[in-house]
Amino acid sequence: MTTKITRRSAIASALALTACSQGAKSQPAVTPPPPLRTLTPFPIGCCVQERWLHEPEYADLLGEQFSQLTAEWEMKMEYILREDGGFKFDRPDSIASFAKARDMALHGHALIWYANENDAFKRLDGRGKPFADAYRNYILAVVGRYRGQARSWDVVNEPIADDGERLRDCLWSRNLGVDDHIALALEHAHEADPNAVLFLNDYHLELKPNKRATFMRLIERLLKRGAPLSGIGTQTHIDYDLPQGAVAEALRDLASFGLPIHLSELDISLGDHYLPALPGDRVKRQVAKYAEVAEAFMALPARQRFAFTIWGLRDDNTWLRGNSGQRPKDQPLLFDEAGKAKATCRALADVFGQRG
Ligand code: XIL
Repeated sequence: MTTKITRRSAIASALALTACSQGAKSQPAVTPPPPLRTLTPFPIGCCVQERWLHEPEYADLLGEQFSQLTAEWEMKMEYILREDGGFKFDRPDSIASFAKARDMALHGHALIWYANENDAFKRLDGRGKPFADAYRNYILAVVGRYRGQARSWDVVNEPIADDGERLRDCLWSRNLGVDDHIALALEHAHEADPNAVLFLNDYHLELKPNKRATFMRLIERLLKRGAPLSGIGTQTHIDYDLPQGAVAEALRDLASFGLPIHLSELDISLGDHYLPALPGDRVKRQVAKYAEVAEAFMALPARQRFAFTIWGLRDDNTWLRGNSGQRPKDQPLLFDEAGKAKATCRALADVFGQRG
């Protein structure tokens, strides 16, 4: 892929030349890209864990670059709902206040997720009305608390099974019905905040066309029955070697409903786990992939560009390095461990700066 010469990079080169001709040492001039949040009319989001907000350098970089926040896990049921059925809102509140203080939008993530089968609900398994009531109460309480502040919610997260052929079997679907538990969650969320944009959110929609098709058939059924679904989230956890065009094709398909699209959890993994050093070629392809994903998003009709969210701030924050330790050296994000903008960030800034 050829690098496009932007007005900004032309100015940067001119400045570098001036510096050289004045006898400066031969280090190339590196101009940091302008803050991402200044480049686009739609929000540029990042996920965050509450504990990091107490680190001033982290907090300042986050607030300077991004205009929307997603809680990485503290707004999930695993945090909010205690075993005894009570609620815990301290950390989600702290994330919400940070967003307000830094003039950032807030995206709620995630109300109902197969991976968060909570004991308070397990106790009601198979009990009909008490289960359905607790489901409604939970959604009303959480969405209601952030009404007017969270502009949007991932109402059901990852509804499609990994084989891409069917919906997941989970505590919620067994008690409330396969499509019905999703429609109900959307209705309750809508009741709690009629202005919030309500999403279904899933992953590998660009990698697995069958999963995308199953997801789209679900959306079609929900819309047909009048469920208040008003947005589509595509996580976009991808690798540097994803075939060219896959993200654009997924976005085009998903946009066919005319609903807003949230590119909701982007990271681009460098792949292998135990490489002694990362080959430069991979990094180049990763940078090009970032530019490709941004171009694909910009190809959507402007009114459908809901937000473009990165799953983590600095490389040392990535979940891919996480507990399982599968990719302990991965560098999938926009900022390095010292908080310095990487070429991946520059690539996004270039696309958004030209087209945003
Ligand atoms: C991940 C978080 O990044 C981790 O910190 C947490 O332990 C598990 O969940 N899809 C999602 C996100 O919708 O909620 C997941 O986040 C990543 C995959």
